[in-house]
Amino acid sequence: MNRMRDFAPDAPDAAPFDAAFLHDPYPTYRRLRAAGPVLWRDDVFQGAWVLTRHADIELALRDPRFSSQRTGGWVKRIPGVDASLSGRRAQAGLDLFQRLFGSAMVFLDGADHQRVRKAMAAGFHPTLIRTLRADVERLTDELLDGLDAHAGFDFIAEVARPLPSRVIGLMLGIDREDEARFMAWSDDLAAFIGALQPTADQLRAAQRSLLQMVRYFDALLPARRASPGTDLVSRLLQAEAAGELRADGELLAQCAMLLFAGHETTRNLLGNGLYTLLTHPDAWARLRADEDGMTLAIRELLRYDSPVQYTGRRVATELTLHGTTLGRGDLVIALIGAANRDPERFADPDTFDITRRAGSHLSFGSGPHVCIGAGLSLLEADVVLRAVLRRWPTLRMLDAAPRWNGIAGLRGLAALPVSVS
Ligand code: HEM
Repeated sequence: MNRMRDFAPDAPDAAPFDAAFLHDPYPTYRRLRAAGPVLWRDDVFQGAWVLTRHADIELALRDPRFSSQRTGGWVKRIPGVDASLSGRRAQAGLDLFQRLFGSAMVFLDGADHQRVRKAMAAGFHPTLIRTLRADVERLTDELLDGLDAHAGFDFIAEVARPLPSRVIGLMLGIDREDEARFMAWSDDLAAFIGALQPTADQLRAAQRSLLQMVRYFDALLPARRASPGTDLVSRLLQAEAAGELRADGELLAQCAMLLFAGHETTRNLLGNGLYTLLTHPDAWARLRADEDGMTLAIRELLRYDSPVQYTGRRVATELTLHGTTLGRGDLVIALIGAANRDPERFADPDTFDITRRAGSHLSFGSGPHVCIGAGLSLLEADVVLRAVLRRWPTLRMLDAAPRWNGIAGLRGLAALPVSVS
């Protein structure tokens, strides 16, 4: 095996995934790309291959030699986890977490993946998503009506965080008063899932929160079984009754992961999106003059600063890529954020250009696992950004360098204070 330990023999920066990286990962991606297409890094998940090129990442996401089943080592190989497993209860809790986590659609392969995806697909059909537009507009207006833009407000806390949570809550048919709990549980999962080197503490918090989410959904099921609605949970229950989902917690795992995936990512599309537009006044002015440019602009926002910066795969069958052998079982980290700035795929990749048409970003992934919620998040971004642009054309940032959330994989702002001038 040919594992280059760092970028290059004279590795200029041995620890690139530092605080500066969390603030702005793009210089690091450029250096990684220059160092070679397939790099072994000890400082990524206790050792992983890192890919930066668009073509290679697309291959890894589409080729069955790269498996999506990768949760085992993710959990077990965290330093300090074994030490914390002193009792049988602790071990059982971790095993349950691992089973639930590993049952989520995004971590399944082949026939199992197709079966679960099929059960979920009707709930995300484009026609259904289009019918949600009025609800998304109403929920957005409710949030924006309550804001005093002259006094200023934090766009993340007041809009980007609650809106996607309300929308996915609506789809799953869950109560608004439970929102704060969900967001907290989901944030614990995000801190774990989005860490390049998750800690035992992050794992414990994610474990606690996932189990609480699952218990919450479990308590909802009897009433939904008794009187099903049109919500996603009722649909999944019907799929379970039809034998399309296994009755061993598979349904609960999908609900929990949907809740998580449905808002941790869209929050950052809204936040990164508004931030990018406000820091590119020409683009903002252009959209003010021509709102129809919004669809293309959102596509470019996704490319330019993707809410999901990477995903992972495990090598299922040994293979050679650019002369490097990737062994069976090795972890591969596909840096979506780097692929989206690959000069071989995008002309002038570091320029934000809302009229860009060529090239397709990988922010929603590619292949069998391509994001099932893409249409929903595009709808939310379209509604929110248009509403903000119309209401507050003179919006500006109150803090020239807002704080990032510090989560490498789920890139987003911790706060985005804004006001109208
Ligand atoms: C801007 C917002 C979003 C981004 C950037 C995003 C990104 C992604 C990416 C990159 C993947 C592929 C992961 C992989 O191949 O390993 C994915 C899959 C997935 N996403 Fe999203 N997502 C977003 C919004 C949503 C929403 C709103 C939902 C649900 C309501 C959702 C649910 C899912 C699910 C269930 C999968 C797994 C699909 C499968 O395995 O077949 N996502 N997403």
